[in-house]
Amino acid sequence: MRRLLTALLLCLSLSASAEPWPRAGSPWPHDPAMEARIDALLARMSLAQKVGQMTQPEIRAISAEDVRRHAIGSVLNGGGGWPDQRKHSGAADWLRLARALDAAALEGSGGIPLIWGLDAMHGHSNVYGATLFPHNIGLGAAGDAALVREIGRATARSVRATGIAWTFAPTVAVVKDLRWGRTYESYGQDPQQVARLGAALTEGLQEGLGQGRGVVATAKHFIGDGGTRHGRDQGETFATDRELRRTHAPGYYSTLRAGALTVMASFNSWAEPDGQPRKLHGHELLLTQRLKQEMGFDGLLVSDWDGIGQVPGCRPDACAAAINAGIDLVMVPFQWKRFLAHTIAQVERGEIPMARIDDAVRRILRVKLRAGLFEHPPSRDADAGNPDLLVHRALARRAAAATQVLLKNDGGLLPLPRSHRLLVVGKSADSLQNQTGGWSLTWQGTENRNSDFPVGQSLLGALREALGETQIQHRPDAAGLADVDWSRVDTVVAVIGETPYAEGVGDIPGSGTLRHSSRHPEDLQLLEALRTRGKPVATVFISGRPVWVNDLLNRSQAFVAAWLPGTEGAGMADVLLANGAPFSARLSFDWPAEVCPRSRARPLFALGHGLRSGQASRPRRHSERVPVGGCEARTELGVFERVGLDGHALYVPGPGSFEPLGNDLTAALHLPSTGTPQLALSTMDLHTQHDAKRVRWLDQGGRLIAWSLQSAMLTSFPDAALVLDLQLFTPPDGPVWLGMGCGPECQARVDIGPWLLQGPRDQVRTLRLPVACLSQLGLKAERVDAPFLLEADAPLDLAFTRVKVQAGAARHPQALPCPISR
Ligand code: BGC
Ligand code: BGC
Repeated sequence: MRRLLTALLLCLSLSASAEPWPRAGSPWPHDPAMEARIDALLARMSLAQKVGQMTQPEIRAISAEDVRRHAIGSVLNGGGGWPDQRKHSGAADWLRLARALDAAALEGSGGIPLIWGLDAMHGHSNVYGATLFPHNIGLGAAGDAALVREIGRATARSVRATGIAWTFAPTVAVVKDLRWGRTYESYGQDPQQVARLGAALTEGLQEGLGQGRGVVATAKHFIGDGGTRHGRDQGETFATDRELRRTHAPGYYSTLRAGALTVMASFNSWAEPDGQPRKLHGHELLLTQRLKQEMGFDGLLVSDWDGIGQVPGCRPDACAAAINAGIDLVMVPFQWKRFLAHTIAQVERGEIPMARIDDAVRRILRVKLRAGLFEHPPSRDADAGNPDLLVHRALARRAAAATQVLLKNDGGLLPLPRSHRLLVVGKSADSLQNQTGGWSLTWQGTENRNSDFPVGQSLLGALREALGETQIQHRPDAAGLADVDWSRVDTVVAVIGETPYAEGVGDIPGSGTLRHSSRHPEDLQLLEALRTRGKPVATVFISGRPVWVNDLLNRSQAFVAAWLPGTEGAGMADVLLANGAPFSARLSFDWPAEVCPRSRARPLFALGHGLRSGQASRPRRHSERVPVGGCEARTELGVFERVGLDGHALYVPGPGSFEPLGNDLTAALHLPSTGTPQLALSTMDLHTQHDAKRVRWLDQGGRLIAWSLQSAMLTSFPDAALVLDLQLFTPPDGPVWLGMGCGPECQARVDIGPWLLQGPRDQVRTLRLPVACLSQLGLKAERVDAPFLLEADAPLDLAFTRVKVQAGAARHPQALPCPISR
């Protein structure tokens, strides 16, 4: 009976999903002459050359000579990938590399041009000397399609000036949960707004394509990236087929109609509300049936960074399932050589049909032909290499002004008379890094200084220019307030907010809250310190998303949501000062009234809210109550997953010093220079980008500890185990101690050496150590301050990630048995 029911349900759900999606329509006509040209090209290509066309390595991992030898058809650079790995490489350096790679590709393939893709997300955002526009969230608030189109055109000019023909933009994600760290890449929560602006950017980017202008656009990430549970990056989206189409597909319809030649698959998985989520990268129904057959997309579908490796049964360097599901071009940044070999072998063994390979290559060639790369490669543009083409100051200034949303304006404080003497405070007043956010020169947008942005201005710089130096006092933080000359202050402008982040790292964990002051107490401290001074405070809040700021609103007479406005701080100054530009933007997201996200919560300011210049708000005090203990009933304590979670930093005790590991994303770690280093540390990928730490023991007694100032009550997690993913490179020849600490002189540990030796090497395994085993050895589980502690002697070399204490994991069949003795 039960089986019958399941079968029936399955039939029902299959028939529901069998209802086809409507066609999108496209301005690109079917061109028989072009298809015949593709036939001719295909006919003379070897299998290796075809797979070469389908392979997209990262410029950090491939040389021109490699491109030639392996007939590579595409390259990319990720965030923070620059020619010669020099951040300050200029237009001419980019062009030089593009020319070298182009020439090598033509030679290797017998005349097929290369296509280089990168994330020109808000302007040519990886390139030194380029103007950076506001991130999409701000443009969504501006709501002006003509402005977005113009930004698209300007970006295309800049990208071509570096010899490049393809950008991975626009993002047409519709964000359902503000905890997602990519919220700012979205135009908003309204699918129609996302569709309208995504199409406008596509039109601007691709204008003149095929005629020596424009660059190829990418609609991404197909599909449901903004709908994941708890806003988790690369997470699981539960939605009916109809919801998926209604909410998450409009941006694909509109951009395909606008002519977008490429689509990028998404890292997330999808399932009907009660279904088993499956990764998009292996989802034939969505990639092939929906997108290509039903919607009629005839361009190329590119996978995301090592995304194929997340399909069950796949690895980053081998995934027949993804290609069979519909991926045409594979972004395989580093392991491209093995990918070539594996894919060729899979075709030879019949695991990937030749017809699928031919279809993939046909789509790639179609894009290259439509983009005009055979006749007009951008690296041959007459004005290529000209750094002036990277600069669009007036447009960026206008855009920045158009994105500023005035949320509060008691007494009509803003705009400020130009005669006002200002105290400008806050960590973001003079920070182009904070103004530009993630995906700016570097991947996370961190490790930048003002000098990395040779064109542009911070808000402080712009105010000084507008009002004159003498009218402004500047203090970066509360400590600086002590020597302010208050008699010379009419108004305080506090420039505060979030600091840069990008995918993954920017997520607010499910157990966290939307309360900004919990992550950035310095901002509240600053406004609190100003409170007693009796001067009106206009707060300019720089952020990648709306967050809970009731406490900050209560301490500001005026409050501007500035989003991530880019390199032209003058645009912000324009709306703050009288006789500049008007406030005209409106929220493209609801602004939260509650610290814990709920789907039907009433917003503090609703979508569409935004005061006009001079319009006064009604004074209102907002509740500052926040629940204790975060938002969700917790079943785990997150310790480390790329960065420290739940306040944990990872430390390597060195002679006399500690090295926090938590936020190190790109570089290998520097160990204390005094004494013998005991460990060599580096960052690597186990499941996803830069998620793991690799540790090589160099000496005796090397120790690694995850520490938090706050101790945790592990007794509140029933049947808990310490769980971590781990890969062994060099086996130990002595004990390897894994344990926890519970304050001074309080710790317990067990030897996991035997477990390590039993398993396969070079493979990720999950270790589960019951907390009860440690309690038996004296751990005080009610006050654990170091939930992860690893000690060993050389030799040993391993990598780990996803470290957590998880309820129920001790009952897992593969949990470690407790040792009998210490
Ligand atoms: C790289 C970035 C890249 C990102 C892709 C990181 O590992 O360092 O350059 O953009 O992955 O998401
Ligand atoms: C991101 C994409 C990006 C790619 C290349 C990925 O990690 O998800 O949006 O285009 O990296 O940098």
